[in-house]
Amino acid sequence: MQLSIYKDYEELSHYAAAAIIDFVKTNPLAVLCFATGDSPRLTYKLIVEAAQAKKVDFSKCSFTALDEWVGISPENEGSCHHFLETNIFKPLQIEAANIHLFDALSDDLANECRKMDQLIQEKGGIDLMLVGVGMNGHIGFNEPGTLIDQYSHVVNLDDTTQKVGQKYFKEATQLKQGITLGLKHFLQSKKTIMLASDSKKAGIMKQVIKGEISTAVPASVIRMHLNAEIMIDEEAAALL
Ligand code: F6R
Repeated sequence: MQLSIYKDYEELSHYAAAAIIDFVKTNPLAVLCFATGDSPRLTYKLIVEAAQAKKVDFSKCSFTALDEWVGISPENEGSCHHFLETNIFKPLQIEAANIHLFDALSDDLANECRKMDQLIQEKGGIDLMLVGVGMNGHIGFNEPGTLIDQYSHVVNLDDTTQKVGQKYFKEATQLKQGITLGLKHFLQSKKTIMLASDSKKAGIMKQVIKGEISTAVPASVIRMHLNAEIMIDEEAAALL
C-alpha cells in the first residue's frame, strides 16, 4: 500500500485525477467503480475537464455502481445515481450501455446484488476503484462489522451514516438501508485509490492507516490490498 500526503484538497484532487487519467490511457476499456461524495468531487471535475480537452477518452470504459441508498430514486439529488449522472456520466457523455448501477427501488434487492456480482464477474472484475472513507470508517456502505468475504449486499446503515448522509439531501430523509458492493469486490479490484481530506477525517484515517486491520474499521482492509494507494491531504494526515 502506498500512502501519499498532499498539501490540501486541491493538490490531492489534481494527483487523484492524474492517476485516473493515466490509468484510463493505458486501460481504455477499464471497468471503473467510483464513489460519490465530497472527497472525489473535485477529482471528477478535473477528469471531466481533461476528457473535454481530449486528453483522455472514457467512452469505452464501463462504470459500475459502488453503492446506493435503498428506497431513494435516481431523480433525487441526494442519490448516488444522481451524483454520478451529474458529475461524471452526463458531462463525459457516457453511453447508457456502459453504466451499471443498482436499482435501489427494486422490490428484489437480492436480485440486484446477484445481477451486479454477475456483471462484474463477466467483465473480468473491477479494474479501478476510487473510494472515500466514511466518518465511521466505511467504504461504500460496508459499515463497521461488515464481513470481509462478501460481494454485493444490502445493509442496515449505522447511525453515523444515517446522520452524515443527510448532507446530500435537500430535506431530512430517512436513510435506513444501503445496497453496496462488498469488501470482496474491493480487495479483488485490480487497483484501488482511497481519498480523504479535511481535519474531520484525521481521527478515522489514523485508525485506517495505523490501527488494527479489522472490519471494525472497514477501510483498514485497504492494507491487505495488493495494489492500493491512499491519497490524503495534510489535514486528514494530521494524526499519523
Ligand atoms: C459514497 C460512498 C461513501 C463515501 C463516504 C465518504 O458513494 O461510498 O462510502 O465515500 O461516506 O463520503 P465523503 O467523501 O462525502 O466524506
